[in-house]
Amino acid sequence: VVHNEEALYRPNFHFTPQKAWMNDPNGMFYYNGYYHLYFQYHPESNVWGPMHWGHAISTDMISWRELPIALYPDELGTIFSGSAVVDIGNTSGLGRTEKAAPVVAMYTSSKQLEGTDNWKQTQSIAYSNDEGKTFTKFEGNPVIDNDSLKDFRDPKVAWDEERNRWIMVLAAGDRIMFYESENLKNWKFLSDFGQGIGGHGGVWECPDFFKLPVNGGDDYKWVLFVSINPGGPNGGSATQYFIGDFDGTQFVMDPEFAEDLAKDHNYWIDFGKDNYAGVSWSNARRKDGSKLMLGWMSNWQYAQKVPTETWRSAMTVARKVQLKKDDNGYRLVSNPVKELEGYRSTKYKKEDLLISGETKIVDSKVITLSSTEIKFEISDFQTSAFTFKLSNQQGDMLLFGYDKTNNSFFIDRSKSGKIDFSEDFASKKTKAPRTSSNSTLTGTIILDKTSVELFYDQGETVMTEIFFPNAPYDTLSMIAGDEDFTINHIEIHKLNV
Ligand code: FRU
Repeated sequence: VVHNEEALYRPNFHFTPQKAWMNDPNGMFYYNGYYHLYFQYHPESNVWGPMHWGHAISTDMISWRELPIALYPDELGTIFSGSAVVDIGNTSGLGRTEKAAPVVAMYTSSKQLEGTDNWKQTQSIAYSNDEGKTFTKFEGNPVIDNDSLKDFRDPKVAWDEERNRWIMVLAAGDRIMFYESENLKNWKFLSDFGQGIGGHGGVWECPDFFKLPVNGGDDYKWVLFVSINPGGPNGGSATQYFIGDFDGTQFVMDPEFAEDLAKDHNYWIDFGKDNYAGVSWSNARRKDGSKLMLGWMSNWQYAQKVPTETWRSAMTVARKVQLKKDDNGYRLVSNPVKELEGYRSTKYKKEDLLISGETKIVDSKVITLSSTEIKFEISDFQTSAFTFKLSNQQGDMLLFGYDKTNNSFFIDRSKSGKIDFSEDFASKKTKAPRTSSNSTLTGTIILDKTSVELFYDQGETVMTEIFFPNAPYDTLSMIAGDEDFTINHIEIHKLNV
């Protein structure tokens, strides 16, 4: 069947490059009204290859404009993942104009060693004097050399306001290495973290490190993101997190967090299969102390085989990240940025809707289901099971919901359309434990043509997955478990992005 992949699969409001292969988000910073997003990019084909940094900008993290490629491979190697900061004080001395502070990008130069599968990975910097449009590579690269470590990559730099210096985290196989610098050019190793701690089903990649207020108050904790591939909770790529303290040299897990982690490692930013390598925007902390992030909406298990040819991969919706603590301990919570609500148009709303067997909620004549935000609430949540079902005339269906027998949320994309491009794509239902013990269940569902993003319990449990239906989904239903139940509130917004 020939289909128009632009019409069927190009997302309405998730960033995709016009053409070719994309993976991790890189170098995200905010400056003078623009959110910048760079990304791992192979402009020559729709599979991974010699990496460049593609570039896009947005004023609200929802509508994106793609700009020319920002970084090309050079004699030190191809341009792997990394970060960028606005060097407000020109600590680097790389500022060349009065008008704009330099933007300094730090990335991994990755060079394949001839005749082997190994790479020499070193860290380099490049600076921009036009607010991130164009970059000049620093003549003293690499700024951190490396001859012994096989995996040594993905530097994430941040300003340490308590100690007036830059700090940087780097992934080195089975641990994260911490560094400091006064000028972004000379780096000093501080400590490392992670051997034998957390998930180690695969190599550690793409760290991020920042502090967050606890419950929005005056106390704060440091949060360490570590992406891991493979070894995610539902197979393949995923991002775990650790909560702790930082004395300027060493990151140490909070004792209560460490105990909870040892009992049951369910500290994942997202339990779905399609949110990887996510990191935060630099220079973009919100007034309430929260951070902003997005991730790559795919999984290394099948990213290079998904059924789009012109481009491959999209980013997740931008999310606000906060730190919560209650009787169940620490939890990172993430939710779509409020800017998304600015695109709401048509709305459907119902109170106290009885779900008995399979109950149709809406179809696309009432409201579109491919550029959509759904919010729902079930008070006094005793329901044994519920399933949301998206379907179309071709018999495709995407199922997601909750099952009390194992107190977990699930996504089932086994009949969602094209699935046979990879055995790993839909071979099993994916699951996420419900960690909250709230008596009310709330959920936010973000739908695009090829993705669903689920934020349960105010963002405490998140699941993101992609799918490729043979025709657009046009009907949304809900299916009850053994008993009927009432959904106390549901509202569905069309998003006009
Ligand atoms: C993560 C990753 C990074 C690396 C980049 C290469 O997906 O493997 O560790 O820098 O992709 O494209």
